[in-house]
Amino acid sequence: MTSTTNTTCLVTGGAGFIGTALAPTLLERFGHVVALDSLLEQVHPGRMWPSALPAAVERVEGDVRDQRVWDQLFERCRPDVIVHLAAETGTGQSIHEAARHTSVNVVGTAQMLDALVRHGIGPRKILLTSSRAVYGEGRWRRADGTPFAPGQRTLADLDAGIWDFPGSEPLPMAAATVPPDPCSVYGVTKVAQEQLLRTWGASFDVPIAIVRLQNVYGPGQSLSNPYTGIMSLFCRMAREGASIPLYEDGRMRRDFVLIDDVATGIAAALDSDAASGRTLDIGSGEHQTIEDAANAIAAFYHAPAPHVSGQYRLGDVRHAWADIAPTLDVLDWRPRYSLTDGVNRLASWIEAQGDVPAYGGAPDNDARQGATDQTR
Ligand SMILES: NC(=O)c1ccc[n+]([C@@H]2O[C@H](COP(=O)([O-])OP(=O)(O)OC[C@H]3O[C@@H](n4cnc5c(N)ncnc54)[C@H](O)[C@@H]3O)[C@@H](O)[C@H]2O)c1
Repeated sequence: MTSTTNTTCLVTGGAGFIGTALAPTLLERFGHVVALDSLLEQVHPGRMWPSALPAAVERVEGDVRDQRVWDQLFERCRPDVIVHLAAETGTGQSIHEAARHTSVNVVGTAQMLDALVRHGIGPRKILLTSSRAVYGEGRWRRADGTPFAPGQRTLADLDAGIWDFPGSEPLPMAAATVPPDPCSVYGVTKVAQEQLLRTWGASFDVPIAIVRLQNVYGPGQSLSNPYTGIMSLFCRMAREGASIPLYEDGRMRRDFVLIDDVATGIAAALDSDAASGRTLDIGSGEHQTIEDAANAIAAFYHAPAPHVSGQYRLGDVRHAWADIAPTLDVLDWRPRYSLTDGVNRLASWIEAQGDVPAYGGAPDNDARQGATDQTR
């Protein structure tokens, strides 16, 4: 993508964790960057714009579900490129607040598309940040080597502390090989966003690039949102000297990718014509257990060792990590940061914040108790 000063990039959800980190990169590529955000209280206590958002970014406060917001914006601003980040992102929360997640993520996306049509705007690219949540439990492999889709874990198994699919091994997630099969309402809404954009883009000849992000963490992540950001939550626990409680048996695998690597990945997908029409997985290229991540954080803070709580959370999948090889073939990008680098950066950033909300041992309302031995 050529960078010119008379181009406009609209970032929905531009005040969020990823939008704020992406802003400097966008300002290098576009003459005008507009952030549209409703400043959701759960993410932005006091509904303040983040101080880290560069002053050069134009701030527009508004809800993506509101037609009038779109009409007022598009009457004066015709974006060349849209980065669509605005979303309700609570995986567990989405199970008991389904309408809220569906209305923002699905209806909000549809309102954006209708407004583009009403105003005769055909952006030269729309990029959506989708999620690993679209895969659900993904694909596993039986002992005889045959792959299968295990579907969602049953409540009976979770209550009995049967966390894995016995006799099989999980496989990495990749858009080309693992079809969507979400296990949370949030995941369903991300599939719907993808399909809405693809269908609409084909009808109006607007290139759509989709990046499915794994677990993004790092400086700038909300320290107050109880529903997202396991790494910042673990840091808050460990810095107070608490032993981090691990759900299930602590051995769930995750692909923790540092925000800096995600920002460069999104920028590479914006720059690449080959990314248009594709769905690309963005992750660290490695997996860690939740226990590994908690141990790294506990070590940073010299906190007591993490412990298995035996709780589980509806909507969580057992293992999730990306095979990023297909993405590396398409994008001029590769992740640079290890988990240790990332934890040090996140924890150092948290320590530099004046006002870190106390963890205080608040219970997780999404958690349920399974039957795992809690003495470990
Ligand atoms: N952070 C991750 O680990 C991760 C992983 C996979 C996908 N994603 C996706 O990336 C995108 C950005 O995530 P994030 O981590 O920056 O989350 P975030 O919660 O920090 O940012 C989302 C932003 O959207 C805004 N928003 C929410 N509802 C809105 C509405 N109705 N109208 C306008 N703005 C609204 C919020 O105020 C917030 O600033 C989301 O689409 C999310 O699904 C994130």
